[in-house]
Amino acid sequence: MRAPPSVIAWLQRALQHEFAAARQFALQASMARRLGDSALARFCSESAQEELEHAQRLAAALIDLGAGFGGGAAPAYPVGSSRQQILAAAAATERHAVAVYEGALRACAADGELRALFGGLHAEECEHLDKLRRWAGDGSAAGAPHGRRIEP
Ligand SMILES: [Fe+2]
Ligand SMILES: [Fe+2]
Repeated sequence: MRAPPSVIAWLQRALQHEFAAARQFALQASMARRLGDSALARFCSESAQEELEHAQRLAAALIDLGAGFGGGAAPAYPVGSSRQQILAAAAATERHAVAVYEGALRACAADGELRALFGGLHAEECEHLDKLRRWAGDGSAAGAPHGRRIEP
């Protein structure tokens, strides 16, 4: 498998995003548990695992291409301290993921293998966003403004 530098950069950018998303979901799982919302905690924990699995798929592609994983730290996505904030932060992350994979797909239009990788990830991020919207139950993924809030 070969790819131009611009496509390598998209793989690395997506990898950083996935690590940031996994970190956010793991931290939000702990916060939700602390809020006593075990269902939300489980949802966030499972989401963290799924984002880490995405990171591993991207890392495998970079290894296959003989490319590095990219430098720098993953961005620190915000961590909510109430149910409403947790759902809103997660929705922002999933919307960002969809945009990242749309950009990646445009950048690798000529490469069937990478299109399959990015296309699959794009579809899964769209599913994450739909799942989150269903979870929030109000169509905005912001959730109802109820529940306790914990000061960080
Ligand atoms: Fe992801
Ligand atoms: Fe996601």
